[in-house]
Amino acid sequence: MRLYVTRQPRIIEQMAKTNLPPVIVLKDLKKRFGIGDAEHYAIDGIDLTIRRGEFIAIMGPSGCGKTTLLNVLGLLDSKIEGEYELEEKSVATLSSRRQARIRSQQIGFIFQSFNLINRLTVIENVALPLIYKGMTQLARIKQASAILHNFHLGEREYYMPHQLSGGQTQRVAIARALVNNPSIILADEPTGNLDSYASHIIMEELSDLHKRGNTIIMVTHNPRLTTYASRVITMLDGKIATDTQTPTKKSDGDAKRPLGKKKRAKRKKEAKS
Ligand SMILES: Nc1ncnc2c1ncn2[C@@H]1O[C@H](COP(=O)(O)OP(=O)(O)OP(=O)(O)O)[C@@H](O)[C@H]1O
Ligand SMILES: [Mg+2]
Repeated sequence: MRLYVTRQPRIIEQMAKTNLPPVIVLKDLKKRFGIGDAEHYAIDGIDLTIRRGEFIAIMGPSGCGKTTLLNVLGLLDSKIEGEYELEEKSVATLSSRRQARIRSQQIGFIFQSFNLINRLTVIENVALPLIYKGMTQLARIKQASAILHNFHLGEREYYMPHQLSGGQTQRVAIARALVNNPSIILADEPTGNLDSYASHIIMEELSDLHKRGNTIIMVTHNPRLTTYASRVITMLDGKIATDTQTPTKKSDGDAKRPLGKKKRAKRKKEAKS
């Protein structure tokens, strides 16, 4: 009986999610690299619908096309064949300027390589995406500072990137990707170089963003992290091999501190003041 009572909301939640609007639709998507004899399809015919609020884990062997797919989804590579609709608009053919605007407003990208700017401090790196939001410099720094504290990096705000450990660098890069509250988060092995404590901090933050209705697409080699996801996709040779809906085990366990809502509200309040 207890099982019935506790599982019911989750079933209703899953049913409701299938009715949510699609945020990303791919139709026979292909991405080719090279020409002539060197021609190679890194993505070789992917049909995929991703709905708002899904947390998708993408797995698959090295070289199967995971990063290439994230780059296409993040509008970093638009030389594609097939269709890519983002919020029901075809985006592959938009000008690079319009694509850049969509990227800065809606998409947070956590790269496999960190891409921090070496001549800027940690806090300046994190505040960078907020420039496009038209916020004052003080508000930008306050918001960046708040997210750095969330990631336990408050004491490193004025360090330069080369003064950080690998794991700290990765956490700064993640803080930068999330600082402007993007509705779609693309993460390429976000915990790849982190120890289990640092991984936990990152996964809790992603999980919290998921709970608040954001769409998350995360590439990982770690099967344990798929427990955070609502859907697991495996890729092979540029194609989708399996696509499975999963109950989000972590979403109702005691590991889920409500890390976000209060802190996020506080962060916004601080940024405004
Ligand atoms: N710029 C490029 N030019 C030519 N080939 C490329 C380019 N980028 C990727 N590829 C090729 O496309 C394929 C897919 O690469 P991709 O980086 O997407 O793999 P991946 O699944 O992310 O692997 P990993 O798990 O090692 O990160 C590989 O065979 C790779 O060599
Ligand atoms: Mg990759």
